[in-house]
Amino acid sequence: MPRVVVKSQQNGPNLVFVDGKVSTALCRCGHSAGKPYCDGTHAKVEFKAPAHETVILE
Ligand code: FES
Repeated sequence: MPRVVVKSQQNGPNLVFVDGKVSTALCRCGHSAGKPYCDGTHAKVEFKAPAHETVILE
């Protein structure tokens, strides 16, 4: 079974890692034009949030 970890970047998206490699970047600021994916808009809107890590599957 793959190891899936979500690492919320400080002031940025949720990076989804599968077996240690970035699989995708999901928007958590709510402003991406391409939801559910991050398009970089978080920087323009000066999104602020702490970093966080969650293990989904091991
Ligand atoms: S987190 Fe990057 S656009 Fe929302």
